[in-house]
Amino acid sequence: MTAKYLVTGASGQLGQRVVHHLLETSGVAAGDIIAASRKPEQLADLAAKGVQVRRVDFDDAQSMEAAFAEAANVLIISTDSLDRPGHRLVQHRAAIAAAEAAGVKHLLYTSMPEPTNSPLLFAPDHEGTEAAIQASSIPAWTILRNNWYFENVMMGAGPALASGNWYSAASDGKIAHISRDDLGRAAAAALVAAGSEKKLYTFTGSNSYTYRDIAALLAKAAGKDVAVVDVPLEGLVQGMVGAGLPEPVARVYASIDTMIGNGGLAKITGDFKALTGREPQSFEAWVESQAGALKSMIP
Ligand SMILES: NC(=O)c1ccc[n+]([C@@H]2O[C@H](COP(=O)([O-])OP(=O)(O)OC[C@H]3O[C@@H](n4cnc5c(N)ncnc54)[C@H](OP(=O)(O)O)[C@@H]3O)[C@@H](O)[C@H]2O)c1
Repeated sequence: MTAKYLVTGASGQLGQRVVHHLLETSGVAAGDIIAASRKPEQLADLAAKGVQVRRVDFDDAQSMEAAFAEAANVLIISTDSLDRPGHRLVQHRAAIAAAEAAGVKHLLYTSMPEPTNSPLLFAPDHEGTEAAIQASSIPAWTILRNNWYFENVMMGAGPALASGNWYSAASDGKIAHISRDDLGRAAAAALVAAGSEKKLYTFTGSNSYTYRDIAALLAKAAGKDVAVVDVPLEGLVQGMVGAGLPEPVARVYASIDTMIGNGGLAKITGDFKALTGREPQSFEAWVESQAGALKSMIP
């Protein structure tokens, strides 16, 4: 074993923040970290700092066997393979099996809030992964149930600022979202804290917001009014299809609104502060920091 910590998906946006916080916030020695990615060539900056770099692809069992045997604590960052329904769960199960075979002492995984019985069409990927971890013989694990990223609002902000309308099927459902950087900070802290326990955290911001609240904040920062227009779920799907999205993908995105409307992202917890000792970043301040990008979305 050559490292204390291994992070998969290290070239991804969250993975980069996890490795950053391991190094800069937790003060972990670079040589104690393995940054693993399908594209290790993209991690040259980390290699230059002394971080160990390995190729790991959840679709390639050999790549996992070799790398996971080198680390005591492994963070599996969930993949983004939403275009192949069901494949994400296959990938995550393969990663868990490889960690088990390699003798990993503590496995960590990035999940979502309340994945069981969720109307979100990809929630079964997370529910199934959590179940596979709990059924494994890995002696200790931590499940990191991450609420939505602040950054996700930028996807809706473009069309909303262009048209002045934010179409929603989420009713008055609230989102207790949190910044991606804070989730990287929390994952790094959970890695460093990993011991012999089995734990489940739900990381959220300190407040929750309806789409109306969010649209009002975006509008203020961008200097253009945005009206939230309530539509039925099918109307939302057909609107996305009309804008060029394949229908199965539109149905996945629309199911996010159903989940929000049902309160699936609304619960606020104190887990982030309990683990990191800090308050999560404020959403209002984050939106303000995006004012330039938001203004540039107005045609
Ligand atoms: N909470 C939220 O709001 C939210 C939003 C979007 C996504 N997510 C989930 O959180 C994950 C991380 O978010 P992000 O912002 O970092 O997304 P991202 O920048 O799109 O990164 C995608 C991640 O998936 C990894 N990946 C893809 N295929 C893989 C494979 N075959 N084997 C191993 N890893 C693979 C990538 O790793 P490499 O490219 O380095 O191999 C990368 O870390 C996403 O993949 C998704 O599951 C959460």
